[in-house]
Amino acid sequence: MATVLAIETSCDETAAAVVKKRHILSNIVASQIDIHRPYGGVVPEVASRHHVESINDVVAEALSQAKTDWQDIDGIAVTCAPGLVGALLVGLTAAKTLVMLHHKPLIGVHHLEGHICASYLQNPDLVPPFLCLLVSGGHTSLIQVEGCGQYHTLGQTRDDAAGEAFDKVARLLDLGYPGGPAIDRIAISGNSQAFNLPEGKISLPEGGFHPYDSSFSGLKTAVLRLVESLRQRGEDLPVADIAASFQHTVAKALTRRTINCAVDHGLFTIAVGGGVAANSALRDQLSAAAQKKNLQVLFPPLSLCTDNAAMIACAGAEHLDRGHRSALTLAALSRMPISKVMELYSG
Ligand code: KG4
Ligand code: ZN
Repeated sequence: MATVLAIETSCDETAAAVVKKRHILSNIVASQIDIHRPYGGVVPEVASRHHVESINDVVAEALSQAKTDWQDIDGIAVTCAPGLVGALLVGLTAAKTLVMLHHKPLIGVHHLEGHICASYLQNPDLVPPFLCLLVSGGHTSLIQVEGCGQYHTLGQTRDDAAGEAFDKVARLLDLGYPGGPAIDRIAISGNSQAFNLPEGKISLPEGGFHPYDSSFSGLKTAVLRLVESLRQRGEDLPVADIAASFQHTVAKALTRRTINCAVDHGLFTIAVGGGVAANSALRDQLSAAAQKKNLQVLFPPLSLCTDNAAMIACAGAEHLDRGHRSALTLAALSRMPISKVMELYSG
C-alpha cells in the first residue's frame, strides 16, 4: 500500500501527515483555535491567511517527523471539498506545487471521506461494508460505506449539524469556542436528567417519524427558551446541568438513529468520525446500545476525531492503490455530496 503525504486546510487547522499502509508516520496539526476564539467562531479570511503562514513549516515538519524523503512518497493527497474555499485553496495550491516539483500523483480527497478513513488508521483490518456515523461541525450523516469511494447517505440533519448545535449552545451558556469540548468538560459535574429537552424528530407526510434523519434546531431553541426564562426569574444559570442535559439529548438522538440504521441495513460495524465523535456522552450511550444489539462500534482516538491530515492521507492512499488520480485542474469546492467522490478522479 502506498505512502502518502497529505495536506488538510479545509477549516481552521493547518495540517500535514505521512501515512503508510494505514499506519501513521507523522501527523502535524497547527490549530488556529486560539486565533479565532475572540471572534466566537472561524473567520474565513483570517483562517486563509494563517494557513498561508503555516503551511510550509507544517509540511516540512510532517516529512521530518516521518523520517521520509521525497523518494519514499508515492503520492500527494489534499482536501479539496467541502470547506471554506479560501482555506482549501491554500492547501490545494501547496499540494499542486509539490506535485509539480517532485513529479508525484495528485489525489484530491473529500473531507468527509477522510473522517470515515480515520477508522482505518485505528483499525487497519476494517473492511466495508460498515455504517459510519459522521458528526462534525458541518455534518451529521449516517453513511453506508460500500467500498473505497462508494458511499450511500442513509440519514442526515435537516438543519444544524451536531457540532454546530454544540457550538451555538455553548455560546448561549457563555462557555466559549469551540463549544463541544467546553460542554463536554462542564457536563461532567452536571445532572443529565435535570432538564427534559426535546430530541427533535422529522415528521413524515404519511405519519410517524423519519428513522434516520435528525434535527437539532428545536433542541437549540428549547435551550434558549430555558436560559431566557431562568434569567427572567433572576435565577443563577445551572450551566453544568443544562450542558449535561443538552449533551445527553444529542447523544440519545444520535444513538437511536444510528442503531436503527445499522440494524435495518444489516450492518454489524459502526465507525464513528468527526469532531463530535470525541463526545463522552455519545461514546458512552452508543457503546452501551451497540453492545445490547451485538454490534461493534469503533471510535477513533480523540486526535483523529477532529480535523487532521492523517485521515486525508489514509483516504488518499486507498484511492492511489486503486489507480485513482486527480487532474492538476482539480478545483476547491465549498460543497460536494460524498456520493460524488469519484468525480475527483480522472483515471
Ligand atoms: O470534525 P471537526 O474537527 O471539524 C469539522 O469538519 O467540522 O469538528 C468540529 C466540531 C466542532 O463543532 C466542535 O465543537 C465539535 O466538533 N467537538 C465536540 C467535541 N470536540 C469537538 N462536540 C462535542 N463533544 C466534544 N468533546
Ligand atoms: Zn472535519
